[in-house]
Amino acid sequence: MKPRTRHVLLLWLLLCSGFTEAIEPISTSIAVGMAAALTGFLARYQNIFYYFHECCRPEWISLNSTGLQADLESKLFGQHVASRIILKAVNGFMSNDNPKKPLVLSLHGWTGTGKNFVSSLIAENIYKEGMDSSFVHVFTSELHFPHPSQIETYKTQLQQWIKGNVTNCARSMFIFDEMDKMQPGLIDSIKPYLDYYDKLDGVSYRKAIFIFLSNAGGDSIIQTALDFWRGGRDREEIELKDLETSLSLSVFNNKKSGFWHTSLIDKNLVDFFVPFLPLEYRHVVQCALSGMADRGLPPNQDVADQVARDLVYFPKSERVFSVKGCKTIDSKLDYYT
Ligand SMILES: *[C@@H]1O[C@H](CO)[C@@H](O)[C@H](O)[C@H]1NC(C)=O
Ligand SMILES: *[C@@H]1O[C@H](CO)[C@@H](O)[C@H](O)[C@H]1NC(C)=O
Repeated sequence: MKPRTRHVLLLWLLLCSGFTEAIEPISTSIAVGMAAALTGFLARYQNIFYYFHECCRPEWISLNSTGLQADLESKLFGQHVASRIILKAVNGFMSNDNPKKPLVLSLHGWTGTGKNFVSSLIAENIYKEGMDSSFVHVFTSELHFPHPSQIETYKTQLQQWIKGNVTNCARSMFIFDEMDKMQPGLIDSIKPYLDYYDKLDGVSYRKAIFIFLSNAGGDSIIQTALDFWRGGRDREEIELKDLETSLSLSVFNNKKSGFWHTSLIDKNLVDFFVPFLPLEYRHVVQCALSGMADRGLPPNQDVADQVARDLVYFPKSERVFSVKGCKTIDSKLDYYT
């Protein structure tokens, strides 16, 4: 082994595994001696090391609560209900050093309303490396579980992945995209991990975060939003309780969506159902302006209006909500700017 490789490995042990904290109880004199010997060494390499190697430690994983709140307020549009639930849920969970079960969020709403975006905001405000973190895992049925005939293999694989990753790092995050397309039974296989167990096979899953994204219930959320709009009521008046009943009914009764064949709901394994409302013209304009800012462009209201006008709105008669939410804004901006 080359000396440099050895140094890097040693550093990994020291910094990633919490070895420096483990020294303490051994013996003060040994620790002092070691610490003295290591100081120069660490001083030379620490920054480089931290720069290159993500570890399962608070330096790399801790919630920036003000950051999450600021992001939800300034980057997510038209989702006052979702925004509130997410902030409360994530804050509560991350500030608890000894949670009784993993955090399980189920995000519902039609396409382009911000479910994926919110997941990445959560990741970015917990993990220094954000969505690129080696502790954040995204699963989609098309990519990871494409062949219905191999469901049994997938189940075993998924269990092993989650177990392996949580063993490596208790504060791991798992995002399941397009739950509607997941095969029935797949999520059933990881149900025990979502439950109130102290440990399963020596592994505790209580500090992990699971996020499920789906369109299920989207129609009933739209109906509620439309009822408010037709009643001339302010969208911001919509509360979770206005959506909850119709959401859970439509989710329960939707036989097509793999997720709901499972007993996740009956067993109350999902901690929070998070509804995403359909987006109106003004929200699309906000998305466009925000997209410009992301590209370092000055805000241009005319272009934002143009982009928003180009989208299709429904229902046909009133044209209130964008069919694809903010989904195609980015590619439209490429075209107009
Ligand atoms: C938390 O987020 C805020 C707002 O984005 C940022 O100004 C601040 O530096 C962050 N704090 C830490 C500790 O990263
Ligand atoms: C962690 O999950 C990824 C999939 O996101 C998988 O490829 C990898 O093998 C898992 N790691 C372990 C140690 O199981």
